[in-house]
Parts: sequence; C-alpha cells; structure tokens
Amino acid sequence: MENIDTPKKAPKSIIIIFGAGGDLTKRKLIPALYHLMQQGLLSKHTNVVGVDRLDSDNETYRNHLSEEIDCFIDKEFFSRDLWDQLISKAHFMQGDFRDPETYKNLKNFLTDIDNKTDTPDNYLFYCATPPSFFGEIAAQLCAAGLSTESDDYWRRLIVEKPFGRDLETARELNKALHQSFQEHQIYRIDHYLGKETVQNIMAYRFGNGTIEPIWNHRYIDHIQITVAESLGVEGRANYYETAGAMRDMIANHLLALMSVIAMEPPNSFNDADAIRDEQTKVLKAIEKFTPEQVLSCAVRGQYGGANLDNGESILGYREEERVAPESGTETFVALKLMIDSWRWSGVPFFIRTGKRMPGRYTEVVIQYKYAPSMMFHKSMDKINHLEPNRLIIRIQPDEGISMQFNAKKPGTIQELSTVDMDFSYSEHFGNAPSTGYETLIYDCLCGDATLFKRADNIEASWAIVQPILDVWQALPARTFPNYKANSWGPDEADTLLKRDGQEDRQWHQIK
Ligand code: BG6
Repeated sequence: MENIDTPKKAPKSIIIIFGAGGDLTKRKLIPALYHLMQQGLLSKHTNVVGVDRLDSDNETYRNHLSEEIDCFIDKEFFSRDLWDQLISKAHFMQGDFRDPETYKNLKNFLTDIDNKTDTPDNYLFYCATPPSFFGEIAAQLCAAGLSTESDDYWRRLIVEKPFGRDLETARELNKALHQSFQEHQIYRIDHYLGKETVQNIMAYRFGNGTIEPIWNHRYIDHIQITVAESLGVEGRANYYETAGAMRDMIANHLLALMSVIAMEPPNSFNDADAIRDEQTKVLKAIEKFTPEQVLSCAVRGQYGGANLDNGESILGYREEERVAPESGTETFVALKLMIDSWRWSGVPFFIRTGKRMPGRYTEVVIQYKYAPSMMFHKSMDKINHLEPNRLIIRIQPDEGISMQFNAKKPGTIQELSTVDMDFSYSEHFGNAPSTGYETLIYDCLCGDATLFKRADNIEASWAIVQPILDVWQALPARTFPNYKANSWGPDEADTLLKRDGQEDRQWHQIK
C-alpha cells in the first residue's frame, strides 16, 4: 500500500495461473489484469500462462476467456483493442498438478516465453485451485527449481483461501509451503483486504487528527461488523457443506476487518511487516472462548425457506442441491469478541455474517457512548431517549462513511433529532472499474505484501475460532433451520447484544 504519486508500472513478469479453467480466473483475475493494463500499470511484456488439466490450446483458451467478457468488464471501460492485446499474451499449457512432468514442461514453456519476449524470469505463480493442491503445487515448483530466486529475478506464490480448515491444518499448510518457498515469497490472499474501502479505514484513522483520540474504550461503547449476503450458496454446496460461515467468512474476512479497525498505528506505512505486526497483535489479543462462553457469546444459524411478499419463494439451505437433508452446516454466525488491550478494555466487538439476508451489505458501526444528557432531559421526556453518535463505515455497496449525530429540530421547543453527515465514494471520486483483485495482483507484482496475510496472522485467526468449532462439533445444532431466508438471522443474534443488562443495544438497522 505504498503511497505512490505517479504509480509505476509493475515489473515485466509471467503470471502462471494454476486452475486456469476455473471461474476465479475468468471472472476476476483476467478482468483485473485488463483493468491494470488499462490504467497503464501492467508492463506490455506481461504474459499469462494458464495451466489446467483441460484438453485445450492457446486459441481455444483465448476464446474461453473472451466468452461473456461483457459480464465481467463494464461496457463503459471495455476496449476491444486493449482486450485483444491482453489476450494475445495469454497461453495455455495442459498439465496435471500432481504430475512432475507438468513442472518440467512448465519450466521449458516459461523459458521459451522469456526468450521470445525478453522477460527477466520473474514468475508469479497463482494457485486458483482447490486448497488440496496448494502444498503439492508449491512442492513440485520447488522440485523443478522454479521457486529459487536470484538477485536478478523473483519468484512469488499466491494462494487463495481457504487456508486450512482449522488451526492444525493451517499450521500444516504453512509448514508445507515453507519447505518450498520462503515466507517473503508467499502471498496469502484475503480479498477483503484488497477492497478500497477496507484500505481506506487505515487512511481514515491515521490520516486525520480528530479520529484517533476518540478511537478507544473511553469514548466507544461497542463496535459492530456486519457482512450480510443476499445470495445462498450458488452451486458451491460441495465446498460450503464442509466449511460453513465460520470457516468461510469469520476465520478470514471478518477477523481481517476487525484487525484493521482495532490495530495500533504502525511504526511505518511503507513497511508491510510493521502493518501486519499490528494487525496480528490484535488477533492475538482477542480473548479465546471457554466452552461456556461459546454457549453465551457465539450464535449459529441456518436459513430455512421463505415465501416473499413479491411472490418469490426461496429454498431453505437443506433443500439446495448437494446439501444434506439434515445438514448441520451454519449459514449464519454472530460473535461477541473482546480484545484484551488497554485501548479496547471493556469494548465488545459484535461481528455477524450470513447468507440469505435481506441484502448485500458490509458495514462497520462504531457506536459511541451516550452523551451526559442532563441538559436535554426535558426534550428527552418528549423523545424518550437520546440516540448515541454512530460512525458508519460502508464497505459495500454504496461505499462511504457517515456520522450520525443529534441536532436541534428547528422550533421553540428543545427537541433533538438524529441526522447524518455523509461521504460517498462514488459521488466524490467517481466509479473506478474493479474486480477487487487489481490492487492485490499489482502489489504482489511489485513485491508489496502489506495486504496479504502472514503465516502468524492466519494461525492467530484460526486460534480464535478453533474453540468455537470444537464446541459446535461436539454439540450439533438441534434447532436448524432457525432463521427464515431474507431475514436478519436467528433471534439469539439480537439477544447477544443485550446481554449483561445492555437492553439498549441493537444491531444497526441497515437501510
Ligand atoms: C468468499 C466466500 O470468500 O467471499 C463467499 O467464499 C462469499 O462465500 C464471498 O460470498 C463474499 O465476498 P464479497 O466480496 O462478495 O463480499
């Protein structure tokens, strides 16, 4: 996340995508490369090599990438010439990821492109594959001599999530990767960290003099993080049945968001490790649940079917294709987390995520403590209570930040009303084309690991969710399905906020 006034072009390199025939490549990665090229951030010597088991060749592969491209690149930003330029640099190599021959062939394939295009042996290997291949691909690349760097060229490996399925498997995977690549060569993606609005949280907190002084337990009552999705599992049931919302969203995206919200200012913003150290410290300071706390501070849910007012009916999770009829997989999680630190002493973080919620919204709400309201007690009789100030950071959609505060209603009586002061990204900066992967790919090509997860960060995240996974596994949910599709989750998620006599606390109503 280096601050660059005139962004420089990423160095000449070859991007090798394992899993070239998959959805991620077609929907996100190739369109992201197109956007980078359009912004002048990609060297024209960048080549892409797709590796997959499919029986294909360059021409068929290029056609495959070009099909439906208008669904993945906004018409307004699409230029046929530019697309043709990019696609002419895409090559296909058939190969089985488990076969050592694939990597021998790959080595020759890459040398051939290097010779023809004068690229200096910089290789970015992108594992867009099921996670069971991550360790294998790394080991095979190493065995073929493709992971070794020199002073003249670099070798980097991007791995997608899920990174392990619990603390033990995450540790094993880290160990396996470290046998083939050094930590500085490994870029673990959490695409939430690539979102502009998430990166802006740091800019907002540390680039403004008025925010940090009140960003602590003296002024903040509690913090809410919501990642709500309106979609269900969309044909990914095979994966989702083995994951659930805790592994799919909490163990990575929500904890990543929480670490950005709660981190201390780093010593430097130009040092990836200084920033990642602070984020990891937050994760390590999150109090681990005892089995009793799992029962009181963690809520799980699964959606059932619903008939909507507009006549549409939505299937329940258990009725979706490839989902077990008695499935115990959670599609909703809400947690109350505490951070054991000076800054956050006594401030609960309520985090929740769910599928089939009434909309797709990701937002962070900082709820400040109530003002001492004596001077308004007359008006309070009228309006019953004074609303607390809330800072609302809208991560998506309608990206922006708003501050809710109380203002006097015009008139002779002293009556207050809650109003919003609003900043909207698109109104201020206009719309920029993005799949969410542009910054991540660009940063990796430039060797900036700030927005990628380090091994210790991944393990610290799993250490938080592990005690909850253990209790949930030992005590399967008996009340599933326990919320209706198109609702905000089970009732227990509301009571979670109100515990310990905090009757006034409620989830922020997203409009
Ligand atoms: C992915 C999860 O990591 O994030 C999906 O596997 C989820 O289940 C997705 O839908 C949400 O990402 P976004 O960027 O659409 O909020």
